[in-house]
Amino acid sequence: MALKVWGYCLVLGLSATTSGNAQELRDQYHQAPRDTVAQEVYDGWKQYNLNCARCHGEDVQGTTIAPHLIVSLKPEGTIKTKELFIQTVCDGRPARGMPAWCPLGMEIPTIQKIYAYVKGRSEAKLGPGRPALKPGP
Ligand code: HEC
Repeated sequence: MALKVWGYCLVLGLSATTSGNAQELRDQYHQAPRDTVAQEVYDGWKQYNLNCARCHGEDVQGTTIAPHLIVSLKPEGTIKTKELFIQTVCDGRPARGMPAWCPLGMEIPTIQKIYAYVKGRSEAKLGPGRPALKPGP
C-alpha cells in the first residue's frame, strides 16, 4: 500500500517537472503564435520585420524616429489607400529618412504583402508577435 502511494506521487512529480521545462523553453523569443494567417500575411509579417521594423517598430508598435504605421493606415490617417502605401514605400522620402524601396530591389508584390500585414495590425485584426501559417493552399 505504502509503495503504491509513493509510486503515484512519483508519477505526479514527473509530470509536473515535464510541464515546468516546457514553460521555461517558452521564453520571450518563443511565444506561442496568437494569430493564424494566410501565406500573404505571413510573408508580409516576415518582410516587414526584416526591412521596416528597425525604424517603424517591431510588430508595428512604433518608435520615436518614424511614423507609427498603425496610426498612418487608419481611415483618418495619412496613408488611406493601398495605392498610396505602395507608392510611398516604393518611392520613399529619402530626404526625410524613409528609404526608397523599389530602387533597393524590393518588388511590388512584396510591398503588397507588407501592406496586408500592416493593414491587419492597423485594423486590430492581428496582434503583435509571430503569427502561425494557415495550412493548405
Ligand atoms: C531607415 C529608417 C526607415 C526604414 C527602414 C523604413 N522607414 Fe518608412 N519611414 C521612415 C521615416 C523617417 C518616415 C517619415 C518620413 C517623413 O517625415 O515624411 C517614414 C515614412 C513611412 C510611411 C509614410 C507614413 C506617413 O504617415 O506618412 C510609410 C507608409 C512607410 N514609411 C512604410 C515603410 C515600410 C513598409 C518600410 C519597410 C519596407 C519602411 N517604411 C522602412 C523611416 C524608415
